[in-house]
Amino acid sequence: MKIGLFDSGYGGLTILKGIRARMPQYDYVYLGDNARAPYGTRSFEVVYDFTLQAVKALFERDCRLVILACNTASAKALRSIQQNDLPAIDPDRRVLGIIRPTVEVVPEMTATGHIGLLATPGTVASHSYTMEIEKISPELSVTELACPMWVPLVECEEADGDGADYFVRKYIDSLMDADPKIDTIILGCTHYPILLPKIRKYAPEGVRIVAQGALVAESLEDYLRRHPEMEREISRNGTIEYLTTENPEKFDRLASLFLSSSVSSSRITL
Ligand code: DGL
Repeated sequence: MKIGLFDSGYGGLTILKGIRARMPQYDYVYLGDNARAPYGTRSFEVVYDFTLQAVKALFERDCRLVILACNTASAKALRSIQQNDLPAIDPDRRVLGIIRPTVEVVPEMTATGHIGLLATPGTVASHSYTMEIEKISPELSVTELACPMWVPLVECEEADGDGADYFVRKYIDSLMDADPKIDTIILGCTHYPILLPKIRKYAPEGVRIVAQGALVAESLEDYLRRHPEMEREISRNGTIEYLTTENPEKFDRLASLFLSSSVSSSRITL
């Protein structure tokens, strides 16, 4: 059995990178629904339908555990899939999200108690981050801002372009104007670390930028430690199979850039 990772497109590769850096021994399957990205502006129903299709496709490819390496899918589809679908599909399989592991570490990071969240319109509309943070540290103040242009910049290979500077600066400035006391910004979308050099350039000095890859990896390692019966079933040949719903050549080119290693993907339909 393997570990599956799913994202609407390339963003989940930032999570895969973090996980592989910590646990290179396991076998992974990565699925990017590039043909239908972005998800961030889609309705709850559509994100749920697409995510369920992707989870089933990963289960068919022997994934014992699937990580929704996508905040939009974690915010909009995770709970329904865990509660309503998994018991019927296979109660022994697991689907995990990435919002909870991110939120758990945030209280230790802030000195002012003021947090900024940058995410897709869908994740912001769900208020999942604010609700999860409230459960752990109700005293923290969270300001959420949707960045609808950031995912298209990444998916359209413009993350390094001048247009990206304009949009990165615009959203960072809006967030800091909304609450100048923010000292910690969560990148609540797995695509955003690809824009990290520009995000760092425009964020005020001293503001901490939180990306999810390493946090999710640490949390997954802990999860596997607490579930040895599952961990034992995951094969250990250090392989990654890449699947995309769009053109594999384009996926390989961009994924290789993000991962700094060569990638060879196959196309599937969901
Ligand atoms: N990378 C995803 C996320 O973390 C989705 C981006 C999108 O498709 O809009 O939210």
